[in-house]
Amino acid sequence: MIRLGILTLLLSIQFAAISKNQSPPLIMKVAVVTGAARGIGLAISKKFLEEGYRIAILDIDQKTLSQTMKQDFDTNNVLGLECDVSEPDQVDQSVNRVVEEFGRIDVLVNNAGIAEFKPMLETSYEEWSRILAVNLNGPFICTQACAPIMLKNKGGSIVNIASISGLRASTLRIAYGTSKAALMHLTKQQAAELGNKGIRVNAIALIPQWPKKFILQTYDPTIIM
Ligand SMILES: NC(=O)c1ccc[n+]([C@@H]2O[C@H](COP(=O)([O-])OP(=O)(O)OC[C@H]3O[C@@H](n4cnc5c(N)ncnc54)[C@H](O)[C@@H]3O)[C@@H](O)[C@H]2O)c1
Repeated sequence: MIRLGILTLLLSIQFAAISKNQSPPLIMKVAVVTGAARGIGLAISKKFLEEGYRIAILDIDQKTLSQTMKQDFDTNNVLGLECDVSEPDQVDQSVNRVVEEFGRIDVLVNNAGIAEFKPMLETSYEEWSRILAVNLNGPFICTQACAPIMLKNKGGSIVNIASISGLRASTLRIAYGTSKAALMHLTKQQAAELGNKGIRVNAIALIPQWPKKFILQTYDPTIIM
């Protein structure tokens, strides 16, 4: 009887040890997605949430961001932060908030992007500068802020959302196309430096969804899409 009791006790200890090994404490990974109050960034965020991630959305448009937070994300696993990705101080503050709330960052999607579709000679220096500030400086600044946090967990993944406009030249995209081409090279530079430290850096060149009809009606029909 005593032997049976000891055997039961030993088996219980063994099972407890096995189940402890089989069920490590649940760690939810964290993705930061910029420009995700709407559009492609919002779709990316929803997919990450479905896959079990916590999400931090950084967007300049506070009004749309708070609507999206109410309508689309009824969960504590999504943090919406007003932030202009072209402003290093705002990005640092936002990234600090993400770390305070979620404790880690595993993924950064540099999605925030803007465009002005105008002929080169009608594009002002201010428009040119703003597009480069958001589309190129933004991913540089956000990566500088997030990569050190990723390295604390020995790695992560960064995705820069580029465009077909960065792969080939076309009309009406002097600043946008140039910013996306530069973003692709920035991606390679970042990958060259961060790849062997455990952070993958990739770019995705998306193809525009606008109906050609709209563009042709608005601008010269000789436009190159
Ligand atoms: N929609 C397309 O067909 C297409 C094609 C190729 C590439 N892209 C790229 O995909 C990305 C997303 O495109 P989208 O169509 O969803 O755009 P969108 O205009 O619908 O959404 C962009 C989001 O970025 C935010 N944003 C703008 N400036 C910001 C800033 N300074 N800081 C933080 N947030 C800012 C906006 O508030 C908005 O919520 C962009 O980088 C765009 O260049 C889109």
